[in-house]
Amino acid sequence: MASSSLQIPHHIAIVMDGNGRWATRRFLPRVAGHKQGVESLRRCVKACVDRGVGVLTVFAFSSENWNRPPEEVSGLMEIMVGALAREVPKLSRDGVQLHFVGERAGLSKKMVQGLVDAETATAQNTKLILNVCFNYGGRWDIARAAARLAEQGEALTEANLDRAMALAHVPDPDLLIRTGGEQRLSNFLLWQSAYAELFFSDKLWPEFDPAELDAGIAAFQARERRFGKTSAQITAGSGSSPDRQLA
Ligand code: IPE
Ligand code: IPE
Ligand code: MG
Repeated sequence: MASSSLQIPHHIAIVMDGNGRWATRRFLPRVAGHKQGVESLRRCVKACVDRGVGVLTVFAFSSENWNRPPEEVSGLMEIMVGALAREVPKLSRDGVQLHFVGERAGLSKKMVQGLVDAETATAQNTKLILNVCFNYGGRWDIARAAARLAEQGEALTEANLDRAMALAHVPDPDLLIRTGGEQRLSNFLLWQSAYAELFFSDKLWPEFDPAELDAGIAAFQARERRFGKTSAQITAGSGSSPDRQLA
């Protein structure tokens, strides 16, 4: 086991996948799986707070999910608006600082107002930063950052792009978990997960529980993060964090 990483990952990112299959297996409509997914997220947030995770970033709705049947898309929008009203006061009491990451154009006025209000209401909280990626795509994020820099006449360097991206307020994810058994990124955090450790869980998102979170954390702790160096350099203590200077 790599002693250098026997620590709780500071930033965990999760592709919350498998809601639809969870519902279908129970002969329920797919939206029932998404509703159950909100419960699973609440439980996961609490587990992260309890374990001292600093940042949790979750993929809730991708730029490509608009291509689903209209009734599923509208169901997901309704669930989001409902969850904002219901969950934000509780999350705030638990010390969670909320950020919504993604394209807001195309979302309803009510939804955008809900996102802004939730961010304002929780801005002073410090226990856990929860980034909810909604109408998010990794390619959108990179392209938008580049467009912003171009507009301001700034050079397209790694450091400038990094600062212009949607997760500039947090360090890169240490551990990226995907539930639901698929082993792909599906356009999540393409830039930021350059050196994330990946953990694929066969659990469907509604079944993802603190024990499975611990399994992901244990897998992370067993990895040796080398950031391009040799194993000998890492064991000699020359650092397990990316001391790479962004150009
Ligand atoms: C993830 O679950 C939630 C969203 C993409 C909104 P899915 O709805 O993709 O569930 P499966 O993959 O079809 O089981
Ligand atoms: C990724 O899951 C998006 C979210 C979890 C929000 P998908 O179910 O949309 O991914 P694909 O289509 O299987 O790649
Ligand atoms: Mg899916």
